[in-house]
Amino acid sequence: MANAKPAAAVSTAHVLPSYLDPNHLGPWGIYLQQIDRVTPYLGHLARWVETLKRPKRALIVDVPIELDNGTIAHFEGYRVQHNTSRGPGKGGVRFHQDVTLSEVMALSAWMSIKNAAVNVPYGGAKGGIRVDPRTLSHKELERLTRRYTSEIGIIIGPSKDIPAPDVNTNDKIMAWMMDTYSMNVGSTATGVVTGKPVDMGGSLGRKEATGRGVFTVACEAAKQIGLPIEGARVAVQGFGNVGGIAGKLFAEAGALIVAVQDHTGGVANDKGLAVPKLLEHVAKTGGVAGFKGGEAITAADFWACTCDIMVPAALEGQVTRANAGKIKAKMLIEGANGPTTPEADDILHDKGVLVVPDVIANAGGVTVSYFEWVQDFSSFFWDEDEINRRLVGIMKHAFDAVWQTAQEHQVSLRTAAYIVACTRILNARDLRGLYP
Ligand SMILES: NC(=O)c1ccc[n+]([C@@H]2O[C@H](COP(=O)([O-])OP(=O)(O)OC[C@H]3O[C@@H](n4cnc5c(N)ncnc54)[C@H](O)[C@@H]3O)[C@@H](O)[C@H]2O)c1
Repeated sequence: MANAKPAAAVSTAHVLPSYLDPNHLGPWGIYLQQIDRVTPYLGHLARWVETLKRPKRALIVDVPIELDNGTIAHFEGYRVQHNTSRGPGKGGVRFHQDVTLSEVMALSAWMSIKNAAVNVPYGGAKGGIRVDPRTLSHKELERLTRRYTSEIGIIIGPSKDIPAPDVNTNDKIMAWMMDTYSMNVGSTATGVVTGKPVDMGGSLGRKEATGRGVFTVACEAAKQIGLPIEGARVAVQGFGNVGGIAGKLFAEAGALIVAVQDHTGGVANDKGLAVPKLLEHVAKTGGVAGFKGGEAITAADFWACTCDIMVPAALEGQVTRANAGKIKAKMLIEGANGPTTPEADDILHDKGVLVVPDVIANAGGVTVSYFEWVQDFSSFFWDEDEINRRLVGIMKHAFDAVWQTAQEHQVSLRTAAYIVACTRILNARDLRGLYP
C-alpha cells in the first residue's frame, strides 16, 4: 500500500519556519495538532509550549558517493535535534526514498515525547537519508553511511546526540557509523550510536527490545480492558524488526496471528499463521507475499479483518480517515511511529477502539538503547535477563502512569502520554531557564 503522508490541517496560530511549505506539512502537521491537543493541560508550563513547536537544530547535508560504476551520486541527508532540555538528542536514522525534512522533524519530536514519556534522560532527535538502500551495493551502502556520519559528525556524539537504527538501517550500519565517528575523533567512541552489534559495545536484547516493549504494553492494556492475550486474534502491519518480534511474542503467548501485511502484500489465516515459518519466509524473500501458510489478502482486506488487537508496525500515516472506520479490533497498539492520523484517532475513539500510542508502545527500543549507552559508558555489560527484566519494569511503569493520567483527565492515552511527557520536558526547560 502507498506510504500515505497526509497534509494535515494545522491551526493558523502556528508560526511555521520559512523552510516548511504550509500546504505540505506532512507528519510535522500531525505532530503540531497533537501538541495543540495537550496544551490546555500544561498549566503554567504552557508559556513554554512554543519550544516544542520548532526543532532546536535541523541539519541538511549533501551526501556524495562514488558508485561502483565510477559515477558520482548525491543523496540528501538530515539530522534534526528537536529538543535537548532533558539530555542529549536520541533517535534513529532512516534510509528511505520518501524521507523528507518534515518527516524527520516529526520523528525527532516524537522521540522527545517518547523519551520523556518513559523517563529516560534524553531529548529527541532523528536522522535520515533520502535513498532506497535496495538500489545500492553493500560497498555503496557503506560509503553512503560513512559519508553521512562524517557530515553529521559536527552535531552528534556520545553526550550530544546518539543515533540508532530505524527503517532500513540495522546493527551493521551502526557499526559503520561508530567506526567513522571514532576515526574522525581519534578514539573508539562506542557510545555514539546504539543498536550496535553485541561484539562491539551493543547490548543483548536490543534487537528484540521494541517488539518486546510493544508486546509488554499490549498485555498491560489488554488487562485493563479484560482481554485475554491467550486466544486473542492479532493483525500486524509490517513484519520487520518491530512487527516480526511483536508477532512472535504474541504467538508464543498463545495469541493467533490472523493477518500480516507489508510492502510486498498481505497474508491471512483464520487459524493463525505459523509465525516462525513466516519469519523465515520474510528473511529469505524480503516480504510476506507468496507465503504458503495462508491466503493472499489486499491492504483493504487487512484493515477490515476480524481481530482483537491490531499492530501497525510499518510506517507513519497508515491508519487514516479512509480505513479507520473499517477496523474491527478492540485495541490498536502503535508499533510504528505516527501510524495513526488525528482524524483516524477520533474515528477509532468514537468506535471505542483503545489506541495505545507509539510514544509508549514502541518505547522499548529506546529504553534498551539507553541501557546500551549506560553499559558503554561504564564498560560493564549486563546479561539478557537483567536487560529484559529492567525493560519490562520501565514499560509497565510508564504505561501505568499514562493510564492513570488518562483516567484523571478523562482523555485518550495519546493525550495522556503527551501530558506526562510535555510536562517533564517543559518543566526541565522552566528549571533551566533561557540562555543567556
Ligand atoms: N527498530 C526499532 O527499534 C524501532 C523503534 C521504535 C519505532 N520503530 C518504528 O517501527 C516502524 C518499523 O520499523 P522497523 O525497525 O521494524 O523497520 P523494518 O525496516 O525492520 O521493517 C519495516 C516493515 O514495514 C513494512 N513496510 C514498509 N513500507 C510499507 C508499506 N508501504 N505498507 C506496508 N508495509 C510496509 C516493510 O515491509 C517491513 O515489514 C517504523 O515506524 C519505525 O520508526 C522502530
